[in-house]
Amino acid sequence: MKDKITSLLAEVETYTAETAEQAENFRLKFLSRKGLIGELFEEFKTVGPEVKREVGQLLNQLKTKAQDKLNSFKELTENGAAESSSGDLSLPARSFQGSRHPLSVVHNEILAIFGRLGFTVADGPEIEDDWHNFTALNFPEEHPARDMQDTFFIDKDIALRTHTSSVQVRVLENTKPPVRIVIPGRVYRNEAISARAHCFFHQVEGLYVDKNVSFADMKQTLLYFAREMFGGSAEIRLRPSYFPFTEPSAEVDVSCTLCAGKGCNVCKQTGWLEIMGCGMVDPAVLENCKVDSKTYSGYAFGMGIERIAMLKYGVRDLRLYSENDLRFLQQFKSAY
Ligand code: DAH
Repeated sequence: MKDKITSLLAEVETYTAETAEQAENFRLKFLSRKGLIGELFEEFKTVGPEVKREVGQLLNQLKTKAQDKLNSFKELTENGAAESSSGDLSLPARSFQGSRHPLSVVHNEILAIFGRLGFTVADGPEIEDDWHNFTALNFPEEHPARDMQDTFFIDKDIALRTHTSSVQVRVLENTKPPVRIVIPGRVYRNEAISARAHCFFHQVEGLYVDKNVSFADMKQTLLYFAREMFGGSAEIRLRPSYFPFTEPSAEVDVSCTLCAGKGCNVCKQTGWLEIMGCGMVDPAVLENCKVDSKTYSGYAFGMGIERIAMLKYGVRDLRLYSENDLRFLQQFKSAY
């Protein structure tokens, strides 16, 4: 028996395995329950007491050696496999390098806030026709926004959209209420570029149409938004206003978070900052979109992302958003 063990020891010592399959063959041959070493342990029960101690030691030595060898095969084949494939695909990604654009940060945050209230995201084209940008939204023929001085026309009937409200029409034309959406997007106006105006900017539009939607529902939604965006102690106030597509319409102010309403440069000593327009969807707009205005009502709102970002981060010049100055951009690190 001693001879058998020594010859197996030699075999184990010189055995090589380069693939997982070869390692498994080694395990089956030597270490599995019915393998050669197992057989020897069976045979060991029959050896006489004079040699038991010596044979026992040799046998244990063989078993340990085989086990070590198997472990080294496994290490080798597993590492090799990791190197030759594209790695562990379930590992978390490396941390985000660089910083997001402040407009992306605010855009993402706005969508996340309304997402928590059940609003889903919709979008529509930036090149828009007169019907969706103006007529269906109840703009009268002679409204100044239809003027070339304010709008970039591509053709008599086609323009770069001047607001995201056009997508309200597109969605209502194609969806049976309830509709509860936010619409982020780029809009264009024929403005001279300055610290306070640009020829393109970004808006987020909101629209909720259902049975029994009230002005109070809108107010509560906008208060929730203001507090999530500007802090839990923010207050809002609504001032009567006019938009062709809402009736009644209002302008929404948020209490100035920079001076806690006491009055500062940013809020021009008023304690309030204007953040968006809103109102109850005009029944004429619902009818233009073939939605029965006797059954359904709704509210809508629209805000400028640049403006919200200005107020939140104290950005003083709109042009900074599109100049790609890294000193400006690198200040915005965010979970959004
Ligand atoms: N479309 C308006 C603008 O560009 C913003 C707006 C005001 C959107 C009131 C609305 C709203 O949905 O109800 O100035």
